[in-house]
Amino acid sequence: MHRRPLLLKTQLQHAVTETEIEHRRPNRSFVIREGRFTPAQRKAFDQYWPDYGIATDKLPALNLQQYFAVEQPLVLDIGFGAGDSLLSLAKQRPDLNFVGVEVYRPGIGAVMQRLHQQEIKNVRLINEDVVPLLEDCIASASITGLLVWFPDPWPKKRHHKRRLIRPNFLDQVQRVLGPQGVLHLASDWQPYVVDMQEQVAAYPELKPQTSASHPLAISRPDTRFQQRGLRLGHTLSDLIYRR
Ligand SMILES: C[S@@+](CC[C@H](N)C(=O)[O-])C[C@H]1O[C@@H](n2cnc3c(N)ncnc32)[C@H](O)[C@@H]1O
Repeated sequence: MHRRPLLLKTQLQHAVTETEIEHRRPNRSFVIREGRFTPAQRKAFDQYWPDYGIATDKLPALNLQQYFAVEQPLVLDIGFGAGDSLLSLAKQRPDLNFVGVEVYRPGIGAVMQRLHQQEIKNVRLINEDVVPLLEDCIASASITGLLVWFPDPWPKKRHHKRRLIRPNFLDQVQRVLGPQGVLHLASDWQPYVVDMQEQVAAYPELKPQTSASHPLAISRPDTRFQQRGLRLGHTLSDLIYRR
C-alpha cells in the first residue's frame, strides 16, 4: 500500500517543523500540547508501550489482528482521551478486539498503566492522527466498528473546518468498514450533531440505524465528557450508521 510517511505524527515530531505539519495537513482536529507530558507520564508511556502500542512507522500496511492473541472483530475507538470508555468496553466485550487511536501521549501512558493493572488483553493502542492512519495503514473492509465518542466540537465557526467528521475522514470510514460495519458517533454539542448528520448523509453506503438496538450490541459507557455535557444541560446524541 502506498505510504506518505511524513504525515504520521510520531515522525512529524521528530523530523518536521510545525509549519510543515500545517502545510501537509491543515485544519487538524487537535492541537498537540506535549508540554504537559510529566516525567511520571513519560515513564508510564515508555514502560508499557512495548506491550500495548502499535508502531505504524515501519509497516507498509498494518495487519492489526497480529497484535491480538485471538482473531476476532476489530473495533477502533478514535480519540479515546482518558480511556474510560475504552477500558470499560474492552471488559464488557472480550469477544471484540479494540484498537484505541489517540494523539495525546500523556493520556496513552495512563491508559496503558490501567490496561496492565486490570490485565486487559483485547486492547492495543496507536498514537497517531487517525486521518493519515486510516489513509495510509488500514486495509479496506478490515474494521467492524468505528467509535467516535465526544469528538472535539470546535464550536467557533472559523474552527469548524477542524472538526473530525469531515469528508476526508468519512471517505476512509466508508472504505475501511467491512460489510455490516458500524460507525457510532456521540456528542453533546447539538450544532455538531446536526453537522455530523449532514456530513454523513453524503455517504449513502452509511445507513442511519433507526432501531433502538445497537448493531454490535455495544452500550456506550458513561464518561466524564458525558457527565460534563449533562451538567451543562446539553442533550446527548448517539448517531449510529451501518454499512
Ligand atoms: C473530547 S475528547 C473525547 C475523549 C473520549 N472519546 C471520551 O468520550 O471521553 C476528544 C479526543 O480526541 C482526540 N483527537 C482529536 N483529533 C484526533 C485525531 N485526528 N486522531 C486521534 N485522536 C484525536 C483528542 O486528543 C481528545 O483526546
